Amino acid sequence: MKNSSRRGFMGKAFGAVAGIGAVASLYAMKKSWDPLPSVKAAGFTTLDMSAYKENELVVEKWRGKPIFVLKQSQEMLDTEGKNMSELTGKSTADMDKKRLIKIGDAHYLVCIGLCTHLGCIPGYRPETKDFLCACHGGMYDDTAMVTKAPPPRGLDIPPFTVKGNLLVLGEAGPEYKKMKETGITL
Ligand code: FES
Repeated sequence: MKNSSRRGFMGKAFGAVAGIGAVASLYAMKKSWDPLPSVKAAGFTTLDMSAYKENELVVEKWRGKPIFVLKQSQEMLDTEGKNMSELTGKSTADMDKKRLIKIGDAHYLVCIGLCTHLGCIPGYRPETKDFLCACHGGMYDDTAMVTKAPPPRGLDIPPFTVKGNLLVLGEAGPEYKKMKETGITL
């Protein structure tokens, strides 16, 4: 009787130790799954917008995706509303500059450089100021709105926030939230 209660006690004690060991190893495993602080910080890309030149496409990187940055010239801004209004039938005022990000006095297209059809990377043509996706002939204007199918929509705009002259990708600021709400991007 004494022996059996001793066995019972030993069994419980062993079970408790094994339980603690299991919790500890689960905790260690969870810690190893959690991203390190530096990896979380790597989810953001900060761009100094004063570095870009008009009508010159620069491809940046954010979370492994190509990001197109295209500073608009005055000529591009002047024709933009016209192109979009022809495409959509809406008035120029409705369409003007909605896909662009204003920083200081300058306007920028900042979008994910993956075709919304099947994900190829479109090429920018500075002479005609448009994007051509060579995979199936899809085209976009200089604000990355579709001008020729098959892409179903314009190039997507990544979450961003404006901080002075800087643009932080990966953080959804008020300008980005407004674009989402108004259907400018998905
Ligand atoms: S992937 Fe761009 S047109 Fe098909």
